[in-house]
Amino acid sequence: MIILDGKKSSQSVKDELILQVKQLKEEGRRVPHLAAILVGNNGASETYVASKVKNCSEIGFRSSLIRFDVDVSEDELLEAIIKLNNDDAIDGILVQLPLPKHISEQKVIETISPKKDVDGFHPINAGKLVQGMPTFIPATPYGMMLMFEYFNIETKGKNAVVIGRSNIVGRPMSILLSGNHQFGNCTVTICHSHTKNLEAICSNADILVSAIGNPGMIKANMIKQGAVVIDVGITRVEDATALKGFRIKGDVDFDDVATKASAITPVPGGVGLMTIAGLLKNTMQAYLNK
Ligand code: GUN
Repeated sequence: MIILDGKKSSQSVKDELILQVKQLKEEGRRVPHLAAILVGNNGASETYVASKVKNCSEIGFRSSLIRFDVDVSEDELLEAIIKLNNDDAIDGILVQLPLPKHISEQKVIETISPKKDVDGFHPINAGKLVQGMPTFIPATPYGMMLMFEYFNIETKGKNAVVIGRSNIVGRPMSILLSGNHQFGNCTVTICHSHTKNLEAICSNADILVSAIGNPGMIKANMIKQGAVVIDVGITRVEDATALKGFRIKGDVDFDDVATKASAITPVPGGVGLMTIAGLLKNTMQAYLNK
Protein backbone atom coordinates (compact mmCIF):
# COMPACT_ATOMS: atom_id res chain seq x y z
CA MET A 1 0.00 0.00 0.00
CA ILE A 2 1.36 3.41 -0.88
CA ILE A 3 0.40 6.69 0.71
CA LEU A 4 -0.21 9.34 -1.94
CA ASP A 5 1.69 12.07 -0.15
CA GLY A 6 0.43 15.45 -1.36
CA LYS A 7 3.48 17.14 0.12
CA LYS A 8 5.76 15.33 -2.33
CA SER A 9 3.55 15.72 -5.41
CA SER A 10 2.70 19.39 -4.72
CA GLN A 11 6.36 20.22 -4.08
CA SER A 12 7.27 18.69 -7.43
CA VAL A 13 4.72 20.96 -9.18
CA LYS A 14 5.94 23.96 -7.20
CA ASP A 15 9.60 23.22 -8.01
CA GLU A 16 8.75 23.28 -11.70
CA LEU A 17 6.96 26.64 -11.32
CA ILE A 18 9.88 28.07 -9.31
CA LEU A 19 12.15 27.29 -12.27
CA GLN A 20 9.73 28.96 -14.70
CA VAL A 21 9.57 32.08 -12.50
CA LYS A 22 13.37 32.16 -12.27
CA GLN A 23 13.60 32.09 -16.05
CA LEU A 24 11.03 34.90 -16.40
CA LYS A 25 13.04 37.03 -13.99
CA GLU A 26 16.27 36.31 -15.85
CA GLU A 27 14.57 37.52 -19.02
CA GLY A 28 13.57 40.72 -17.22
CA ARG A 29 9.86 39.90 -17.48
CA ARG A 30 7.22 40.42 -14.81
CA VAL A 31 5.99 37.42 -12.81
CA PRO A 32 2.43 35.97 -12.69
CA HIS A 33 0.03 37.84 -10.41
CA LEU A 34 -3.00 36.25 -8.72
CA ALA A 35 -5.82 38.35 -7.20
CA ALA A 36 -7.86 36.62 -4.49
CA ILE A 37 -11.13 38.05 -3.21
CA LEU A 38 -12.38 37.07 0.23
CA VAL A 39 -15.81 38.16 1.50
CA GLY A 40 -16.49 38.02 5.25
CA ASN A 41 -14.45 36.01 7.72
CA ASN A 42 -15.50 32.38 7.47
CA GLY A 43 -12.73 30.49 9.29
CA ALA A 44 -12.16 27.80 6.67
CA SER A 45 -12.20 30.31 3.78
CA GLU A 46 -9.69 32.49 5.66
CA THR A 47 -7.36 29.50 5.99
CA TYR A 48 -7.67 28.46 2.34
CA VAL A 49 -7.09 31.95 0.97
CA ALA A 50 -4.15 32.56 3.33
CA SER A 51 -2.62 29.32 2.09
CA LYS A 52 -3.11 30.30 -1.57
CA VAL A 53 -1.44 33.68 -0.98
CA LYS A 54 1.44 32.09 0.97
CA ASN A 55 2.07 29.53 -1.75
CA CYS A 56 2.16 32.28 -4.39
CA SER A 57 4.86 34.05 -2.48
CA GLU A 58 6.81 30.80 -1.90
CA ILE A 59 7.16 30.19 -5.63
CA GLY A 60 7.77 33.84 -6.57
CA PHE A 61 4.32 34.82 -7.89
CA ARG A 62 2.78 38.13 -6.92
CA SER A 63 -0.59 38.03 -5.19
CA SER A 64 -3.15 40.54 -3.98
CA LEU A 65 -5.72 39.72 -1.33
CA ILE A 66 -8.82 41.90 -1.61
CA ARG A 67 -11.13 41.69 1.38
CA PHE A 68 -14.73 42.76 1.75
CA ASP A 69 -17.03 42.85 4.77
CA VAL A 70 -19.70 40.18 4.89
CA ASP A 71 -22.38 42.80 4.09
CA VAL A 72 -20.71 44.09 0.89
CA SER A 73 -23.30 44.62 -1.85
CA GLU A 74 -23.32 42.40 -4.92
CA ASP A 75 -22.76 45.46 -7.12
CA GLU A 76 -19.67 46.52 -5.21
CA LEU A 77 -18.21 43.03 -5.50
CA LEU A 78 -18.97 42.80 -9.23
CA GLU A 79 -17.37 46.24 -9.77
CA ALA A 80 -14.19 45.06 -8.06
CA ILE A 81 -14.08 41.99 -10.32
CA ILE A 82 -14.56 44.12 -13.46
CA LYS A 83 -11.69 46.35 -12.32
CA LEU A 84 -9.44 43.30 -11.98
CA ASN A 85 -10.60 41.99 -15.39
CA ASN A 86 -9.42 45.27 -16.93
CA ASP A 87 -6.11 45.39 -15.05
CA ASP A 88 -3.32 44.14 -17.32
CA ALA A 89 -1.07 43.48 -14.33
CA ILE A 90 -3.47 40.80 -13.02
CA ASP A 91 -3.32 37.32 -14.60
CA GLY A 92 -5.66 35.27 -12.44
CA ILE A 93 -8.73 36.10 -10.35
CA LEU A 94 -10.43 33.92 -7.77
CA VAL A 95 -13.36 34.68 -5.51
CA GLN A 96 -13.34 32.32 -2.54
CA LEU A 97 -16.62 30.43 -2.17
CA PRO A 98 -19.05 30.15 -0.47
CA LEU A 99 -20.37 33.72 -0.59
CA PRO A 100 -22.99 35.28 1.72
CA LYS A 101 -26.58 34.44 0.72
CA HIS A 102 -27.40 37.93 -0.62
CA ILE A 103 -24.75 37.58 -3.35
CA SER A 104 -25.36 35.40 -6.40
CA GLU A 105 -22.38 33.05 -6.82
CA GLN A 106 -23.44 32.43 -10.41
CA LYS A 107 -23.34 36.17 -11.24
CA VAL A 108 -19.93 36.48 -9.58
CA ILE A 109 -18.54 33.50 -11.49
CA GLU A 110 -19.91 34.79 -14.79
CA THR A 111 -18.43 38.26 -14.20
CA ILE A 112 -14.85 36.96 -13.92
CA SER A 113 -13.19 37.11 -17.34
CA PRO A 114 -12.89 33.51 -18.65
CA LYS A 115 -9.27 34.39 -19.53
CA LYS A 116 -8.49 35.10 -15.86
CA ASP A 117 -10.78 32.44 -14.35
CA VAL A 118 -8.06 30.32 -12.74
CA ASP A 119 -10.69 28.40 -10.74
CA GLY A 120 -12.21 27.20 -14.02
CA PHE A 121 -15.74 27.88 -12.76
CA HIS A 122 -16.94 30.14 -15.60
CA PRO A 123 -19.52 28.33 -17.81
CA ILE A 124 -17.30 28.96 -20.86
CA ASN A 125 -14.40 27.16 -19.21
CA ALA A 126 -16.64 24.42 -17.81
CA GLY A 127 -18.05 23.92 -21.33
CA LYS A 128 -14.54 23.68 -22.79
CA LEU A 129 -13.68 21.02 -20.21
CA VAL A 130 -16.73 18.97 -21.25
CA GLN A 131 -15.63 19.18 -24.89
CA GLY A 132 -12.03 18.21 -24.10
CA MET A 133 -10.69 21.63 -25.15
CA PRO A 134 -7.71 23.27 -23.42
CA THR A 135 -9.04 25.34 -20.50
CA PHE A 136 -8.58 26.09 -16.81
CA ILE A 137 -9.45 22.87 -15.01
CA PRO A 138 -10.93 23.50 -11.53
CA ALA A 139 -8.04 23.36 -9.09
CA THR A 140 -9.05 20.30 -7.03
CA PRO A 141 -9.74 17.92 -9.94
CA TYR A 142 -6.66 19.32 -11.71
CA GLY A 143 -4.63 18.66 -8.56
CA MET A 144 -5.87 15.06 -8.47
CA MET A 145 -4.83 14.58 -12.10
CA LEU A 146 -1.37 15.98 -11.30
CA MET A 147 -1.21 13.57 -8.37
CA PHE A 148 -2.07 10.61 -10.65
CA GLU A 149 0.71 11.77 -12.94
CA TYR A 150 3.28 12.13 -10.14
CA PHE A 151 2.51 8.68 -8.67
CA ASN A 152 1.91 7.15 -12.10
CA ILE A 153 -1.54 5.81 -11.26
CA GLU A 154 -2.94 3.64 -14.06
CA THR A 155 -6.47 4.77 -14.97
CA LYS A 156 -7.16 3.35 -18.47
CA GLY A 157 -10.10 0.95 -18.49
CA LYS A 158 -10.62 1.16 -14.72
CA ASN A 159 -13.94 1.53 -12.96
CA ALA A 160 -13.92 4.93 -11.25
CA VAL A 161 -16.57 6.00 -8.77
CA VAL A 162 -16.88 9.68 -7.84
CA ILE A 163 -19.03 10.53 -4.83
CA GLY A 164 -20.31 14.10 -5.12
CA ARG A 165 -21.58 16.07 -8.13
CA SER A 166 -20.52 19.65 -7.31
CA ASN A 167 -19.31 21.99 -10.04
CA ILE A 168 -16.09 22.45 -8.04
CA VAL A 169 -15.04 18.82 -7.57
CA GLY A 170 -17.29 15.87 -8.43
CA ARG A 171 -18.68 16.87 -11.83
CA PRO A 172 -15.38 18.06 -13.38
CA MET A 173 -13.54 15.07 -11.88
CA SER A 174 -16.00 12.67 -13.49
CA ILE A 175 -15.45 14.39 -16.84
CA LEU A 176 -11.67 14.20 -16.53
CA LEU A 177 -11.67 10.54 -15.52
CA SER A 178 -13.89 9.60 -18.47
CA GLY A 179 -11.94 11.74 -20.99
CA ASN A 180 -9.78 10.29 -23.75
CA HIS A 181 -6.36 11.27 -22.43
CA GLN A 182 -3.61 10.02 -20.13
CA PHE A 183 -5.04 9.55 -16.61
CA GLY A 184 -8.55 9.33 -18.11
CA ASN A 185 -10.29 6.55 -20.05
CA CYS A 186 -12.11 5.25 -16.98
CA THR A 187 -15.66 3.95 -16.85
CA VAL A 188 -17.15 6.48 -14.45
CA THR A 189 -20.09 6.33 -12.04
CA ILE A 190 -21.16 9.51 -10.22
CA CYS A 191 -22.90 9.03 -6.89
CA HIS A 192 -24.86 11.65 -4.91
CA SER A 193 -27.41 12.07 -2.15
CA HIS A 194 -30.09 10.11 -4.06
CA THR A 195 -27.84 7.20 -5.00
CA LYS A 196 -29.13 3.80 -3.93
CA ASN A 197 -26.77 1.00 -2.87
CA LEU A 198 -23.75 3.29 -2.47
CA GLU A 199 -21.88 0.52 -0.70
CA ALA A 200 -22.27 -1.94 -3.60
CA ILE A 201 -21.28 0.69 -6.19
CA CYS A 202 -18.18 1.72 -4.23
CA SER A 203 -17.18 -1.92 -3.77
CA ASN A 204 -16.79 -2.17 -7.55
CA ALA A 205 -14.49 0.87 -7.81
CA ASP A 206 -10.86 0.47 -8.88
CA ILE A 207 -10.56 4.19 -8.23
CA LEU A 208 -12.76 5.83 -5.60
CA VAL A 209 -12.91 9.62 -5.28
CA SER A 210 -14.89 10.83 -2.30
CA ALA A 211 -16.03 14.47 -2.10
CA ILE A 212 -18.93 14.27 0.32
CA GLY A 213 -17.85 16.18 3.43
CA ASN A 214 -19.01 13.43 5.81
CA PRO A 215 -16.03 12.62 8.02
CA GLY A 216 -15.03 8.95 8.26
CA MET A 217 -18.02 7.70 6.24
CA ILE A 218 -16.04 5.54 3.82
CA LYS A 219 -15.14 2.28 5.54
CA ALA A 220 -13.18 -0.79 4.43
CA ASN A 221 -16.37 -2.77 3.70
CA MET A 222 -17.15 -0.29 0.88
CA ILE A 223 -13.75 -0.74 -0.77
CA LYS A 224 -12.58 -3.20 -3.42
CA GLN A 225 -9.33 -4.98 -2.52
CA GLY A 226 -6.45 -3.02 -4.10
CA ALA A 227 -8.49 0.11 -4.91
CA VAL A 228 -6.96 3.58 -5.24
CA VAL A 229 -8.77 5.79 -2.73
CA ILE A 230 -8.76 9.58 -3.09
CA ASP A 231 -10.19 11.56 -0.19
CA VAL A 232 -11.32 15.11 -1.00
CA GLY A 233 -13.13 15.63 2.33
CA ILE A 234 -11.79 18.38 4.61
CA THR A 235 -14.27 18.73 7.45
CA ARG A 236 -13.43 20.50 10.70
CA VAL A 237 -14.30 18.30 13.68
CA GLU A 238 -14.14 19.39 17.29
CA ASP A 239 -11.05 18.24 19.14
CA ALA A 240 -10.39 19.67 22.59
CA THR A 241 -6.81 18.36 22.49
CA ALA A 242 -6.00 20.31 19.32
CA LEU A 243 -4.49 23.79 19.56
CA LYS A 244 -7.33 25.43 17.60
CA GLY A 245 -10.05 23.27 19.17
CA PHE A 246 -10.65 21.36 15.94
CA ARG A 247 -8.87 19.11 13.50
CA ILE A 248 -9.38 18.32 9.82
CA LYS A 249 -10.95 14.99 8.97
CA GLY A 250 -11.49 13.36 5.58
CA ASP A 251 -14.43 11.34 4.24
CA VAL A 252 -12.39 8.16 4.49
CA ASP A 253 -11.77 6.18 7.66
CA PHE A 254 -8.05 6.07 6.84
CA ASP A 255 -6.86 3.31 9.19
CA ASP A 256 -9.73 1.02 8.24
CA VAL A 257 -9.55 1.59 4.46
CA ALA A 258 -5.73 1.46 4.35
CA THR A 259 -5.95 -2.26 5.11
CA LYS A 260 -7.58 -2.86 1.70
CA ALA A 261 -6.45 -0.02 -0.59
CA SER A 262 -3.38 -0.19 -2.86
CA ALA A 263 -2.96 3.60 -2.62
CA ILE A 264 -4.65 6.21 -0.45
CA THR A 265 -4.44 9.97 0.13
CA PRO A 266 -4.06 11.20 3.72
CA VAL A 267 -6.09 14.10 5.18
CA PRO A 268 -4.55 16.54 5.80
CA GLY A 269 -1.54 16.33 3.50
CA GLY A 270 -3.23 14.88 0.42
CA VAL A 271 -5.62 16.43 -2.09
CA GLY A 272 -5.77 19.80 -0.26
CA LEU A 273 -2.14 20.53 -1.11
CA MET A 274 -2.72 19.48 -4.71
CA THR A 275 -5.62 21.96 -5.01
CA ILE A 276 -3.11 24.74 -4.41
CA ALA A 277 -0.74 23.19 -6.95
CA GLY A 278 -3.56 23.15 -9.54
CA LEU A 279 -4.38 26.78 -8.86
CA LEU A 280 -0.74 27.85 -9.21
CA LYS A 281 -0.41 25.95 -12.51
CA ASN A 282 -3.58 27.65 -13.80
CA THR A 283 -2.23 31.06 -12.79
CA MET A 284 1.00 30.42 -14.71
CA GLN A 285 -1.09 29.28 -17.69
CA ALA A 286 -3.23 32.45 -17.57
CA TYR A 287 -0.01 34.48 -17.58
CA LEU A 288 1.45 32.51 -20.50
CA ASN A 289 -1.81 32.74 -22.50
CA LYS A 290 -1.33 36.51 -22.66
N1 GUN B 1 -14.35 26.95 -2.07
C1 GUN B 1 -14.07 25.64 -1.94
N2 GUN B 1 -13.19 25.25 -2.90
C2 GUN B 1 -12.93 26.33 -3.64
C3 GUN B 1 -12.08 26.57 -4.77
O1 GUN B 1 -11.41 25.68 -5.30
N3 GUN B 1 -12.07 27.85 -5.24
C4 GUN B 1 -12.81 28.84 -4.70
N4 GUN B 1 -12.74 30.05 -5.24
N5 GUN B 1 -13.60 28.64 -3.65
C5 GUN B 1 -13.65 27.40 -3.13
